[in-house]
Amino acid sequence: MIVIKLGGSVITQKSEYKSFNGAVVEKIVKTLKGINDEMIIVHGGGSFGHIKAKEYGLPGYASKETIIGMSIVHNDMADLNLKISQILYSNGIYSIALPVSSLVYDNKKNYTVFRRYLQLGITPVSYGDTYIHGNKIGIYSGDNIVYDVARRFHPSAVVFFSDVDGIYDKNPKTNPDARLLKHITGEFQHDEMIPDVTGGIMNKYRKMKNISDLGIPVYLINGLYPERIYNIGKNNFTGTVV
Ligand code: ADP
Ligand code: IPE
Repeated sequence: MIVIKLGGSVITQKSEYKSFNGAVVEKIVKTLKGINDEMIIVHGGGSFGHIKAKEYGLPGYASKETIIGMSIVHNDMADLNLKISQILYSNGIYSIALPVSSLVYDNKKNYTVFRRYLQLGITPVSYGDTYIHGNKIGIYSGDNIVYDVARRFHPSAVVFFSDVDGIYDKNPKTNPDARLLKHITGEFQHDEMIPDVTGGIMNKYRKMKNISDLGIPVYLINGLYPERIYNIGKNNFTGTVV
């Protein structure tokens, strides 16, 4: 089994509310179709998640404002999920949406149903979502879901697709001299311009490290060049290995 995370930065235009990069998703899905293995797919939110979450004070204590925000963000994420699911379907990947707002609350998590769908050859697709956490309306990130499923199902690899070639020694968007780190073990800089509600690249790295500590190889690849997934383990691989 492999676990794939489609980052919001590559499947959406992060600065424009609900702007979907359909052509990019199509290209990634066509690449995934060529992989002959069980798959769990998780996607992030990008401009379908972060913009309204911030606007409505999510994560935050339950209030009229955050509950309205929850409704907007959850529906927008379901909308994004449907767009992705339709592309999966039209490429012959038959999937089922498993939103964590129905599987995770407080500190309870139940991912058992993922296994049941996989057993029937159906691809589980989950995504960053709103959830209840004590008295708060939280945001459960796609990266958290990836960690949860990796811990439970021990895939042979976890691949994060993002809008950069990998993790650099500093943010490549703002530092033209940034160096791509092919193997990463610890330190790097991450001067995010507008930190998103789930913590950006630093939280992503932490999750990647946690997964790698389980003995599972973890990769960050540029989703604009999904075919790089086929070069994993080769000398000409472009991406970051954790
Ligand atoms: P995604 O939406 O794909 O899950 P994020 O947007 O959270 O991912 O993180 C990717 C972004 O992190 C990149 O677009 C980049 O601008 C930013 N970033 C900041 N510091 C770094 C770094 N050292 N290496 C790579 N990306 C970085
Ligand atoms: C957050 O998921 C989704 C919401 C804000 C609802 P992620 O944190 O995984 O999203 P991206 O990949 O960074 O956009």
